[in-house]
Amino acid sequence: MNKYCVIGYPIKHSLSPKIFNRWFKKFKIPAQYRTVEVAPRNLAKFMRSFRENYAGANVTIPHKERLLRFLDKLSPEAKKIGAVNVIVNQRGKLVGYNTDCHGAMEALASDSRLCASHFSKFLRNKKVVVLGAGGAARAIVYGLKKAGARITILNRTVSRAKKLAKEFKCDYGKLEDFDVRNCDLIVNATSVGMCSVETPLPRLKIALKNCKKKPVVMDIIYSPRMTKLLRDAKRTGCKIITGDKMFFAQAAKTFELWTGKNFPLKSCLLW
Ligand code: ATR
Repeated sequence: MNKYCVIGYPIKHSLSPKIFNRWFKKFKIPAQYRTVEVAPRNLAKFMRSFRENYAGANVTIPHKERLLRFLDKLSPEAKKIGAVNVIVNQRGKLVGYNTDCHGAMEALASDSRLCASHFSKFLRNKKVVVLGAGGAARAIVYGLKKAGARITILNRTVSRAKKLAKEFKCDYGKLEDFDVRNCDLIVNATSVGMCSVETPLPRLKIALKNCKKKPVVMDIIYSPRMTKLLRDAKRTGCKIITGDKMFFAQAAKTFELWTGKNFPLKSCLLW
């Protein structure tokens, strides 16, 4: 029986065990999936035993970047992004992948205003604000940049935003610098709002009230599905994209990497 897990800190909110165990069962794959809470100080110790014990893992907050040094190889995309959210144990060799970027782009493409087939065209030269500068933000900035968007990265720790902005040729600032004018899309890639009623943009509602052009607002947090950020955005007339869209799209891609099975996401959405 192959063992898989999701490594994070905190991790209790994760839907991954429920989803993957259900999908393994549905596809009659003898595998088990569980959460493993690993504090940053214990990551090295955990990774020493990982190779012998697990066939693969998902990686989440706050390990997506710091885990790179424990891997033997990275997919070309994960290398360019500088973060992983999936590990595949290929006969003792740990290979890192990034399915977050795919997941985020699928979520954006699923929005009718962003029109799937003309998706890249839609994002070309559009003004996008990415909140956060961690591993998840990296994947999203990479995908948006490839689609030709003009990106501003805002983060609590400005030095981190600066580093990411320099790598991907974006603007940057702190969260308080947020300016809604001419903004086409806002993506929250921070963990603010996860299992709480906090928002990374407490002044969003006020800023949007007198704003004629409303941005699309996307959150990568899926627990709760309607975060405070999304509720504020919806109340002021913005189109929203909930975090479950990205979650399922990245999970489906992950499942393919682990099992080699093409995943019919649409038929499995009811979990
Ligand atoms: P991941 O790899 O999953 O993105 P991460 O690297 O820990 O996780 O990144 C979490 C992001 O959420 C970071 O942008 C972090 O901001 P800092 O770089 O300043 O730490 C952001 N974040 C977490 N808690 C926050 C809070 N209370 N307020 C604002 N931003 C927060």
